[in-house]
Amino acid sequence: MSNPLYLQRCISAECCAEFDLDARLYVCSRCGGLLDIERREEIATDSLREIWLTRRASFDSRDRSGVWRFREFLPFPEDADVVSLGEGNTPLYDAPRSADYCRLPQLKLKHQGCNPTGSFKDTGMTVAVTQARKLGARLVVCASTGNTAASLAAYAARASLQCAIIVPAGQVSHAKLAQALDYGAKVLEIDGNFDASMSVIRELAEDESIYLVNSINPFRIEGQKTVAFELAEQLEWSVPDHLVLPGRNLGNSSAFGKGFRELLKSGLIDRQPKITVVQAEGAAPFARFYSDEEHSEFVNEEHPKTLASAIKIGAPVSWQKAWRAVHETGGSVITVTEQEIADAKAVIGRDGIGCEPASATTVAGIRKLGINENESVVALLTGHVLKDTDYVIKYHNQSLTDPDERRLESRFANAPIRVAASADAIRDRIYKM
Ligand code: F0G
Repeated sequence: MSNPLYLQRCISAECCAEFDLDARLYVCSRCGGLLDIERREEIATDSLREIWLTRRASFDSRDRSGVWRFREFLPFPEDADVVSLGEGNTPLYDAPRSADYCRLPQLKLKHQGCNPTGSFKDTGMTVAVTQARKLGARLVVCASTGNTAASLAAYAARASLQCAIIVPAGQVSHAKLAQALDYGAKVLEIDGNFDASMSVIRELAEDESIYLVNSINPFRIEGQKTVAFELAEQLEWSVPDHLVLPGRNLGNSSAFGKGFRELLKSGLIDRQPKITVVQAEGAAPFARFYSDEEHSEFVNEEHPKTLASAIKIGAPVSWQKAWRAVHETGGSVITVTEQEIADAKAVIGRDGIGCEPASATTVAGIRKLGINENESVVALLTGHVLKDTDYVIKYHNQSLTDPDERRLESRFANAPIRVAASADAIRDRIYKM
């Protein structure tokens, strides 16, 4: 049974059409606008902080999940049959070397790469696949640069649902592809980039038995918004001055905007952090939209280029929601170069925290933003270092080239050293360190 407390509403101010929670829609059927899931009544929040904290010590599988722990804010009944892999509850690290690199006294990194399939996608996928099963879908599908694919494949396997994934041939890292294959998804490689994969998949999803779980799906956003709850809880219900995250399809920026908005509305926090989105210079339509003073027209990037393959997208589907988040929190949208991403990634590594290139846009961006040292900053790392090891090895071997084949400098290179198989030779090298 659908939860009568919730509905889907078009975000377009001129339309605001409302739909039943379980209407199988991805965009507004009246005007094509994006959809938000909304609650009809306010939530009583008196003892919620204590309830959420108590659940951390429980063995109930919903309580063990960092997403379903906050289920009072999710559009499902209390007894919902959830599909979970114990996602969320990711660490919030102090990162002194990265802070130093950004000329800040302190910097915290929220590592979403510590999710079950190694990226932030799991926090949304648990909710979207739970909804897919509730709707009786036969097949779940997505277009992906790799992380959504890996995540969907895993959750579909848990839910015993068939799963098909469309990826741009030759443009997905081996690690991400390997995950999707191992979890049993049908991986369909097309000639064309992510944006082409996305338009094919939207056409396919017109079939009622197929359920699309890209971040245009508002249930994905519901799951991902809970990371704002978890972060606020980890900071003892104060929020940082700035939250910085990478942006591509812009689902995650939208989700943080929604999460913090709901927390503020319900009185669980007293202000929102400024949300800043960082894009790679060669794939930055949102940054261009932001810099245009009129903010009048969103122009897609036809040929997006970046080595950070996870964020190589030119036509972000959720830009209006992300714009709402940036605008209402007083944040910004900036770009960083391939060189800046590569160096920032290596610096994050020196803090003992591994992330994928897309995630390192955050630290590169914070360095560039020149944030006042009295202000607190949290950067979101979206994927694990093992997601793209080719990039890491090339960087440290000083052979990383940008998409135009220009050699990048490896300012923090740490190449392996060839040494004779003798204790003396090894001792000799160690003492030189
Ligand atoms: N970081 C990583 C590691 C990602 O995989 C993605 C998106 C993003 C950031 C951007 O997030 O789209 O919500 O703005 N990856 C998608 C995928 C597109 O198919 O895995 P966004």
